[in-house]
Amino acid sequence: MPDSDLARVAVLGFGTMGSGIAQVVAASGRDVVVLESEAEPLGRGTRSVEQMLDGGVRRGKLTEAERDSTLARIRGTTDVSALAGVDLVIEAVTERQDVKVDLLGAVADVVGDDAVLATNTSALSVTDIAAHLPRPERVAGLHFFNPAPVMRLVEVVRALQTEPDVVTRLVAFVEDLGKDPVEVKDRPGFLVNRLLMPYLNDVVAEYDDDLASAEDIDTALELGLGYRLGPLALLDLIGIDVHRHATQSAYDATLDPQFAPPPLLAQMVAAGYLGRKSGRGFRGKYEK
Ligand SMILES: NC(=O)c1ccc[n+]([C@@H]2O[C@H](COP(=O)([O-])OP(=O)(O)OC[C@H]3O[C@@H](n4cnc5c(N)ncnc54)[C@H](O)[C@@H]3O)[C@@H](O)[C@H]2O)c1
Repeated sequence: MPDSDLARVAVLGFGTMGSGIAQVVAASGRDVVVLESEAEPLGRGTRSVEQMLDGGVRRGKLTEAERDSTLARIRGTTDVSALAGVDLVIEAVTERQDVKVDLLGAVADVVGDDAVLATNTSALSVTDIAAHLPRPERVAGLHFFNPAPVMRLVEVVRALQTEPDVVTRLVAFVEDLGKDPVEVKDRPGFLVNRLLMPYLNDVVAEYDDDLASAEDIDTALELGLGYRLGPLALLDLIGIDVHRHATQSAYDATLDPQFAPPPLLAQMVAAGYLGRKSGRGFRGKYEK
């Protein structure tokens, strides 16, 4: 049995993050109910979990029995009333405050007063989301990284209103999942992205000033600092439009110049050079 008291879990959204999070929670021995808006994304989410688990079996990381029991613990629904009685809700729907607040408000009416509501938002203010919900002291951020079944880090985000006891329970829950929690204040970018965005912006500005070639910048930071991936290759992986949007949002929220997107980012987005997914980025051309 899990040590954490957060035993019955619901995940909202069965997309990229929701499917990974549901898999991780189910693999910890908990039953998970996943809420989607329609049947089609429910089917897609289930297939995505199956593929991840099948890959694990092929690589010898888990047995067929473990795969089957993990899958059996995940139940999809489009009916919000199926969430009655859960202890913890992890919201991983579309990154829009109105969508998240409307859904979490409806869920708050169904789950008990003691349930903890956690959002996996990357860039929205957890404090703002909490302010729109009936029990803001029970709201926090649980920021998983992509792909959730692989990445060990989870940021436990303390909104201004979050009760200390809720943070303590979420930290224990994340440890119970076999992940490594870090506790962090609700600030744009939380911890990892807050420190990553200015670094990437500096690199782009230096590259635009012809400091060195894209390849040499990446090689220097990989070999000189022991990073596994150079910053320009990382930007191509994240998506240049995705980084630009995130750093622009952080700039808008703080007016802190370290988040101001360098002009080259907007030019690359306008040209359709979005990184790997578009076939062209800082590090040249990619197979699409
Ligand atoms: N993708 C990443 O790398 C990443 C990493 C960390 C955090 N996040 C955050 O996680 C959240 C989800 O991102 P994603 O990449 O999984 O998005 P996604 O588009 O892959 O999945 C979102 C899912 O939410 C569902 N949804 C939308 N409205 C709904 C509603 N009202 N009720 C039920 N389901 C609804 C959609 O059908 C979709 O399946 C976002 O807040 C994002 O910022 C994403």
